[in-house]
Parts: sequence; structure tokens; C-alpha cells
Amino acid sequence: MTQAAKTTPTSMRRICLDAKQPAAEGINFAAETIGSGGLVAFPTETVYGLGAKAWDASAVDKIFRAKGRPANDPLIVHIASMEQLPAVAREIPGLAYALGRQFWPGALTLVLKKATKIPLNLTAGLDTVAVRVPDHPVALALLMAADAPIAAPSANRFSRPSPTTAQHVLDDLGDAVDVLLDAGKTAIGVESTILSLLDEGPQVLRPGGVSLEALREFIPKLDFRPRLLGEDEAAPAPGSMLKHYSPRARLLVFQGDDDLAVRAAMGAEIERHQNIGLMADDADAAAFCGFNVKIERLGTGDEQAAKRLFAAMRALDEQGVDLIIARAPEKRGLGLAVWDRLLRAAEGSLVEV
Ligand code: TXA
Ligand code: MG
Repeated sequence: MTQAAKTTPTSMRRICLDAKQPAAEGINFAAETIGSGGLVAFPTETVYGLGAKAWDASAVDKIFRAKGRPANDPLIVHIASMEQLPAVAREIPGLAYALGRQFWPGALTLVLKKATKIPLNLTAGLDTVAVRVPDHPVALALLMAADAPIAAPSANRFSRPSPTTAQHVLDDLGDAVDVLLDAGKTAIGVESTILSLLDEGPQVLRPGGVSLEALREFIPKLDFRPRLLGEDEAAPAPGSMLKHYSPRARLLVFQGDDDLAVRAAMGAEIERHQNIGLMADDADAAAFCGFNVKIERLGTGDEQAAKRLFAAMRALDEQGVDLIIARAPEKRGLGLAVWDRLLRAAEGSLVEV
């Protein structure tokens, strides 16, 4: 059950677990590490998180240092079940409980007013807190064994794509993590949907694993208005900063309904470059077979694209391409989250065909 991989840095312990039935021994070791103020990287159904005990301000501070994350970008608190919500939030609206009953455990993060016990560095000085119950046996077992809420952002270095495998965590954070719980690839591949339930009414801050269509059964007029840095420099919402989910290479996103026209534009771009990468679904990838381009296939459909997106960005970076091109999916279902991550990674560079 417990084995150190060859590439594991010496001071860090990598524990390999069955994703469905994680062994108690490994979970307990990780929970003790959390209890004594250490950092544990663990899988959730969305992406890997970098966790510390939420009540422990100095452990929380280690997360910011390990990631190189600016202190003004608040973390998400993970809880084992909805019963723990009053421990981390206050003045909780009925809608939060209704959404929790429907979507938790799951990829929905709610922004609520914070309980006083939550340290201010965790929320970047805000009076609000982001909270969710993750839908992964390893994450839930860890939360229960730790017997405390766990603060955890995605376990990547700041501005890198979120990690969907334990290897991504190792590549980015290595020794900065005390324990790495490795349970293979994450199921969804993009982060949770963040929904603010503060006084101004429900607002989607980040589209993610739970679709807007599903949320509209509870909040019929819910919409997502992307705000990219530059449009509103004065008050960027937390998490809306550009350069957030980006590969090292520049990224250019093509958008249009006419397959032939979009492929022609992408083909022309490919021909202008020597060292270019392409992230494309199977149909588009087949169209560029034989071109001078490094291709990462995103499969077929939005679910597969979400699952593979961040790994594809990392893979093309490793191949050292200067430019990556991709095609914007339709903005529905999980496609909206993929669209959002592509546009952020591209820093808004969109070619409308
Ligand atoms: O799926 C996920 O949400 C993953 C897994 C590990 O749970 N976590 C994740 O965390 O993506 P992170 O830190 O990479 O993204 C958290 C986002 C940030 O964009 C942050 O700005 C936003 O949540 N956030 C946290 N607290 C907030 C608050 N009080 N108000 C508004 N946004 C907040
Ligand atoms: Mg993140």
C-alpha cells in the first residue's frame, strides 16, 4: 500500500491508495500530518488539492508559500459533510442548504459569510469563505480522519494548470509537500463551480464541474459573465486574474461554428510556425494528422475534454512548443468550464472565425 516512488523527494512521503477503498493506514498518517500542521496533497473529483488544517493559520500560510500564491487570493475550505457548514460559515441562507443537499458531495463551492474561527489569511482578509464537500473517497476519508475542515487550493504552483495526477503535483511542488496521496487521475479534470451566495444575490464566480444548467433548477436566471483582468482593473474578483491556468507557451483560441472555416484558419496558423502544438478533439485532431504540429487529443465531447485539458497543456509545455492553438467548445455543460479555462490560459487571445 505504502511505497515511495523513485522520483519522490526524500522528505516527502508519497502514499499510493486505491481510489475507491483507500487503506486506513495511509489515510491516518496523512490525517496526523494535517493535525500537526503539515501539508497533504490529496485527490478530489475535480483536481488535486494542497491541504492544511483550516483552523491553523501558520499551516495555511505554508500553502501560500508552497504554491507561490499571492496572499490576496483566498483558499477553498473542504468539509466532510453539510453538517460541518455552520462551523465554517455564518448567516447561512436556506438556498445553501438546498444546493448542498442536491450537489454535495460534489464540484460546487459556495461563497458564504465566514465564521470567526476561520483564520483571515485563509480568506485573504475577506469576511467571506468558499466551502465545498468533495466527492472523492480519499478526500472524504482524510477529512473524517483529520476531524477538521481542510483548506485546499489546487496543488499546482501559482499560474500553472491545475494538477489532475499525482505526478503533476510532484512536478510543481515536490518537497514542499509533506504527504502526497496518490489515487490516480481525477475524474472531472476541471475545478469546482464557484457560486457566491452573498447579499447581492447568487453569482457564478467560476464555471466548473457542476453545470449552470443544473444550478438553474434552483436559480432560474443564473448566468455567467466572464470578467477578465483588464476589463475591470480596479476590482478583479478573486480567481479572475489572468495568467491563472496557463501553460508556459502562448495559447491562441479559435472560435466559430463552421468546422471547415475554423480548420482552415487553424491550418493557416500551423503553417506559419515551426514549433507549434494543438489541443483538439478527435475530429479536429484527425483533420490535422500529417501537419507539422504536435497534437494532444482531448477525446470526444466536453467531459473528455475537461478531463484531459490541463494534462494536455502540461504535455505540450514539456515538448517545448512556442505556441499552442485550441478550439473553443460550446459554452454549455462542462464546455463552459473548458471555454473559461482556455480563455484564461490564452489571456483573452481569441480568433473569431
Ligand atoms: O475543484 C476545486 O475547487 C479545487 C479542489 C482542490 O477543491 N480547488 C481549487 O482551489 O480550485 P483554488 O484555490 O485553485 O481556487 C479557489 C478559487 C480561487 O479562484 C479563489 O479566488 C476563490 O476560489 N475563492 C476562495 N475564497 C473566495 C471568496 N471568499 N470569495 C470569492 N472567491 C473565493
Ligand atoms: Mg487553482
